[in-house]
Amino acid sequence: MIHAVTPALRLQPTPDERARQTFVSQLRAHLLDPLAATMKARFQAEVAPSLPAGAGPREVHEAMRGHPVFRLYSAARVTAQDMVWAAVRPMVERGQVELARRFHELATRRPAGGTLRLDSDLRLPDNVTAVDVHRMPGNYHLDRGADDLAAGALYENGLAVFAAGLMGETLDDIGRSVTCWLKRRHPEFAPAVVLDLGCAVGHQTLPWKLAYPEARVMGLDVAAAGLRYAHARAEAIGVELHFLQADARRVPLPDGSVDLVFSAMFLHELPVADVRAVFAEAFRLLRPGGLMLHYELPPNRLLDAYDGFYLDWDNDYNSEPFYRAYRDLDPLAETQAAGFAAPFEASIPSLGWHGEAAVAEAARAQGAEASDRLGRLSQGIHWYVFGGWR
Ligand SMILES: C[S@@+](CC[C@H](N)C(=O)[O-])C[C@H]1O[C@@H](n2cnc3c(N)ncnc32)[C@H](O)[C@@H]1O
Repeated sequence: MIHAVTPALRLQPTPDERARQTFVSQLRAHLLDPLAATMKARFQAEVAPSLPAGAGPREVHEAMRGHPVFRLYSAARVTAQDMVWAAVRPMVERGQVELARRFHELATRRPAGGTLRLDSDLRLPDNVTAVDVHRMPGNYHLDRGADDLAAGALYENGLAVFAAGLMGETLDDIGRSVTCWLKRRHPEFAPAVVLDLGCAVGHQTLPWKLAYPEARVMGLDVAAAGLRYAHARAEAIGVELHFLQADARRVPLPDGSVDLVFSAMFLHELPVADVRAVFAEAFRLLRPGGLMLHYELPPNRLLDAYDGFYLDWDNDYNSEPFYRAYRDLDPLAETQAAGFAAPFEASIPSLGWHGEAAVAEAARAQGAEASDRLGRLSQGIHWYVFGGWR
């Protein structure tokens, strides 16, 4: 049973659709835990002994490419990915009129007092228009008019199936874990203005307002239909958030007007030049003493060759063309090059999975702990964050 969709925006699956969604979730859980563990064991027993010393993720990929267990894993994962969207798409298409009605009602009444500012003249970046990222039909930006929420609904409902419970009951475990960690690590830091870049439907934006109720919390994205959904979602939940359609490389806010620039699962969907442009823009936006903080995939430096290969799978088979080049970067060096002081990184245990005491313990530790749980959407996940101070 799939629970992780905002109740006020929940669409009604048919019994067949409900069964299909549950099946796809369980299939993904099987692929990402027991089958992935079998693949690693077969690699260690059958492939690793003949790899040259110093082999990296690319060499592991070459060596594994023809192995039957990798072919099974890959074919099953590609199929499961397409099944994620197929399992929710008919429900989203059918529910469009009802979603538009709920959007109008919530956006007119604005019970939480949040806002939505769209820019119909915005030029969408090529990384969004040129590819259906993670094989999501229509990608983030499909927009069929002023009351279209379908891309947002497809994303939230698809993510609920995809995450198989590992991103928390409300799909915001990253935001909850990171805010919990930051409050313990830097209790003196009280941001008055928070900006979440590439916020999609605002899953990880919302926990910032819960953690810092006095702050003005904003979510920014280029995709209008996702932002309409984000606005309706926040208003339905009753949390005041402010959403803005803009490009993270050119944010229409003044210099030094933000205390915390955050993003989650955003940078690996950008070309390297855009990652650097986003860091430069974050530096401009932050006031002195402000913080840039990103949740992302861990860099290769923190993983062994096999785990690097395992994460890079999405680059080659899941329509994530910037994944590998992003993971080859050193986030700390990039943060420093953008002008930030005291770059840092950390691995934060999932709050939902490991509990608050484990997050508090991580807040006392230095650096990121190398682990095959880092950034891997399977049981016991640890989230990788990095950042720097302005
Ligand atoms: C993987 S999603 C982010 C998910 C979201 N942060 C969350 O935690 O659910 C990536 C998002 O980045 C947005 N995006 C891509 N390029 C962008 C850019 N240059 N500026 C702003 N948003 C962008 C996409 O529209 C998409 O919503």
